[in-house]
Amino acid sequence: MPAIAFGGDYNPEQWPEEVQDEDVRLMLEAGVDLVTVGVFSWALLEPEPGRYELEWLDRVLDRLGAAGIGVDLATATASPPPWLAHRHPETLPATADGTRLWPGGRQAFCPSSPVYREHAVRLCRTLAERYGAHPALRLWHVGNELGCHNPLCYCDVSAAAFRLWLAERYGDVAELNRAWGTAFWSQRYGSFDEVVPPRTVTATANPTQQLDFRRFSSDQHLANFIAERDVLHEVSPGVPVTTNFMVTSHIRELDYHRWASEMDVISNDFYVTAADPEGYRELAYCADQTRGLAGGGPWLLMEQSTSAVNWQPRNVAKQPGELLRNSLQHVARGADGILFFQWRASQAGSEKFHSALVPHAGTDTRVWRETVELSRTLDRLDEVVGSRTDNDVAILVDYQAWWACELDSHPSTDVTYLDRAHAVHAALTDLGIGVDVVHPDTDLGHYRLLVVPTLYSLTDASAARIEAAVSAGATALVTYFSGIVDEHDHVRLGGYPGAFRDLLGIRVEEFYPLRSGDRVALSDGSAGDVWTELLHLAGATAEASYVDGPLPGVPAITRHQHGEGVGWYAATRLDRPSLAALVARLVEEAGVRPIAPGRPGLELTERTDGERRWVFVVNHTDTEAVVDVAGHDLVRDEAFGGRVPAGGVAVVRR
Ligand code: GLA
Repeated sequence: MPAIAFGGDYNPEQWPEEVQDEDVRLMLEAGVDLVTVGVFSWALLEPEPGRYELEWLDRVLDRLGAAGIGVDLATATASPPPWLAHRHPETLPATADGTRLWPGGRQAFCPSSPVYREHAVRLCRTLAERYGAHPALRLWHVGNELGCHNPLCYCDVSAAAFRLWLAERYGDVAELNRAWGTAFWSQRYGSFDEVVPPRTVTATANPTQQLDFRRFSSDQHLANFIAERDVLHEVSPGVPVTTNFMVTSHIRELDYHRWASEMDVISNDFYVTAADPEGYRELAYCADQTRGLAGGGPWLLMEQSTSAVNWQPRNVAKQPGELLRNSLQHVARGADGILFFQWRASQAGSEKFHSALVPHAGTDTRVWRETVELSRTLDRLDEVVGSRTDNDVAILVDYQAWWACELDSHPSTDVTYLDRAHAVHAALTDLGIGVDVVHPDTDLGHYRLLVVPTLYSLTDASAARIEAAVSAGATALVTYFSGIVDEHDHVRLGGYPGAFRDLLGIRVEEFYPLRSGDRVALSDGSAGDVWTELLHLAGATAEASYVDGPLPGVPAITRHQHGEGVGWYAATRLDRPSLAALVARLVEEAGVRPIAPGRPGLELTERTDGERRWVFVVNHTDTEAVVDVAGHDLVRDEAFGGRVPAGGVAVVRR
């Protein structure tokens, strides 16, 4: 793409056709150059099986194409029409307790259904044949947010597919018995035929069965994507294919690290949590993770909202300036396109109170004016398109570890997977340091500082990779409840954290989770809550010990020279100032330099094309920020004066 793409989901089928003339006129006024068309139009495109009505879509694409507006064309398979469930009720998904989910919402299909797949692929082929060479076509959009509403289906069709998946994975039922630890609670299986999904059970379901069911379910959704993608590649060669991910902190259903390599373009949907006054921090973390999935290169923000959404408990409108800040946070972290849900606010349906580019009140509105202003600002940033980011710090995350960490029957429900990852990301960001969020199996060789937050489960290979990076000179910070089990959720014996004992020079004998609200004080003035553990030094030095709580005198923060590098361990959940102090010390020790000196609420991130460097400054605070960077500010198109107003932004070409 020559320029930062700007636009959003366009659903003209919800409006009389004459509205399209005004749509295109307003799109041009707003600088829209890419719209996603047809996401929820299956029922209109194929009103009965095998009978297609595509002329209306021809006219939409022709009109957009004539205006020079590009199309991200959906394969329209996100939501099957009512006739599919009516004719094939077995395509409907079922919950763990056997409840069938009915049509009337969206995405009402079982991801393992061959009948759904067959109909979806046929529609996809029909659209690819008709539009594969259309001049307006820029990108194919398979389904929509795959697995958003139907991530895990427990029906009989899914059960049969799960058995096949397990037979493929384990080959022999004896291997499954070993991996699932079925000697426990008399769960031994005599054949794969006896296995069912982890449906509602007495007591608690086998944890490895639960993990494998999540892996299987992610793979089934991915197989649906691949089936459509392969048709698009065959019929419409050269046109890239994507599907919009949901990299956010409240959705963990699909293992996007396994998906990323199957995408031609990584795209993501992100909505700020309105109830969180620091919601911009989650945005920053998720955008860094999305760039990680894109291998450090550019990606597309497929959806965000111009103002409020409709699906949170209190849908707070965006403050003036917030839309620009949020959008630049994404561009700063690699987004080469800023798209929205949706172009025109719906008049009917359950999303009618979701903001849009064209609000119900029309264009004489704050939202419209800010949107047009945003578009003009993005125009001035086009030179960053295609550039990448090279940070010295990586946070290592894994969806499978997230699933495993939050299984039932663990030592404390207060240990949640993302808590430490978010906290360390925020602490680093406040220092003005750019952060990558990547899977442990990424090439870690060039990082100076690795953060391993609550990485409860990991494979031997991942552990070896982290160990090798530290041996070669990196500094690592490992936080509690990391390295505890292998990929089958079997405890690594000999003392916790089994995978990192040598690296950290420690041996943990027993967990001592804290009662809700209890805090512990540390000898260096730090404080923690949630978690403590009976830890012995085995080569490491104690940098701080508990002075109260259940384990006075026991080390809480340790440091261990390992090869050319250093392994740090934080055995309790440090509060914000304590973690900030520890992170500042690690950054110093690892030789990581900030982009410029930072401060809480000020974001400094950098993109580069190898020759030029652009520093993105986003000031979320209500005071002016002084920023020690010199160059040309693309936002104002003038020499950067070193000051960014409260709530303001700058993009400085150094
Ligand atoms: C998701 C979907 C869209 C829309 C928005 C609303 O991102 O992809 O179709 O429902 O949420 O926020």
